[in-house]
Amino acid sequence: MKLPAHLRSTLTGIEYPFERLEEFADSGESLEVVLPGIENARPRPGSRIWDRFAEFMPFEEAHPELSLGEGSTPLVDAGPALKGFTGLENLLLKNETANPTWSFKDRGSIACSIMAVERGERITATISTGNMGQSMAAYGARAGLEVIVFLPAFAPREKVLSMAVHGATVVRVACADYADMKMSVLGLASSLGLRIVSGNGPIRVEGYKMEAFEIFEAMGGELPDFIVVPTSACGHVRGIFKGFRELRAAGLVSRLPRMVIAQAAANSPIASAIRMGSREIVPFRDFTTIAEALTSGRPPGGEEILDKALEFGWLAEDATEEEILEAQALYARSGFFVEPGTATTLPALRKLTASGAIQPQSRVVVMLTGSGMKDIEVLGRQEMKILDCDQDDLEWKIGTFISKTHPHRGGMAVN
Ligand SMILES: Cc1ncc(COP(=O)(O)O)c(C=O)c1O
Repeated sequence: MKLPAHLRSTLTGIEYPFERLEEFADSGESLEVVLPGIENARPRPGSRIWDRFAEFMPFEEAHPELSLGEGSTPLVDAGPALKGFTGLENLLLKNETANPTWSFKDRGSIACSIMAVERGERITATISTGNMGQSMAAYGARAGLEVIVFLPAFAPREKVLSMAVHGATVVRVACADYADMKMSVLGLASSLGLRIVSGNGPIRVEGYKMEAFEIFEAMGGELPDFIVVPTSACGHVRGIFKGFRELRAAGLVSRLPRMVIAQAAANSPIASAIRMGSREIVPFRDFTTIAEALTSGRPPGGEEILDKALEFGWLAEDATEEEILEAQALYARSGFFVEPGTATTLPALRKLTASGAIQPQSRVVVMLTGSGMKDIEVLGRQEMKILDCDQDDLEWKIGTFISKTHPHRGGMAVN
């Protein structure tokens, strides 16, 4: 029998009920789910990761009826080009773009759906400029929930439509600063009696834990040395690390991997602080970056991550706009089509191996968090081979192209 879970503030340890609507402690700290008896939790047989690790979850049941098929994503060898670029011999990619709405957010969204269904909440809300809103809209549709997504009025139209198509109500809020708007929307939870989930809320984090369990299973109980996570609100990195900590608490592993934070140089409040060994976030404002998914210039509750970085020896690096574009192309030429935010990981890793912070033989897993399909516009800045021709000059044009690019290939010559 599982004992009931509760929430605890991550820096000062103040306890709150599990049902709390607000995403953060009264002090503004992040909240974390505490699972009494986690030392005795054990994986059990089951076809879904959620069934196998049900004892590690705070919910009454695994709720397969709310699933859209998230998780069980591939953990694949990165291939020679990416290994060569980063200088790493043991580089694996956890491809979260294989989730139903093409990002890791789906794991957090099913956790939020389960929470709403088990509590009998009919409406759920979120604040998002992209992946989280789309994911919550899809999972809300599956669970029969009314979903409200708040986003800044300047969010691109295709992002609004990809949420609204699932039946969510999209509220476009006129605002000058997204971080300010986020705080005022989150502040409405208790007056509206509405659960408004954010990127660093305690329930989403429970969903992200599954990635740690999947890596543990896929590596046969071994652990990587480093896990590289493109970071914004910090919920994702917190969730993966919590999963490994719980595996350790349950006696299933004896050590923890070190986390590596990757951010865009234009907006790097967490990476800059970690590199300086600081416990204080200096906000970034008025930035522009092609890494649009990494929007948090002032991540609420992010100080906890700086604390963990110091305690557990985490690393951090950033990537310039040019480096991000180059990395997106490199990923794509290796078969992985990721969005620019995800592409921050390659330059960050390359810098860390070049400086000796990560050894060439280290076992490293990079989280491919979001699909390149989410931001088609940026592809206009990538070099591509696109030829135009008429039906009449098709043979001549392609023949010329092939003989120029592969002059010594075998097979028939084109006249
Ligand atoms: C594709 C992608 N990667 C990374 C992140 C950062 O995750 P987090 O906000 O949990 O730090 C996001 C967040 O929106 C995202 O959409």
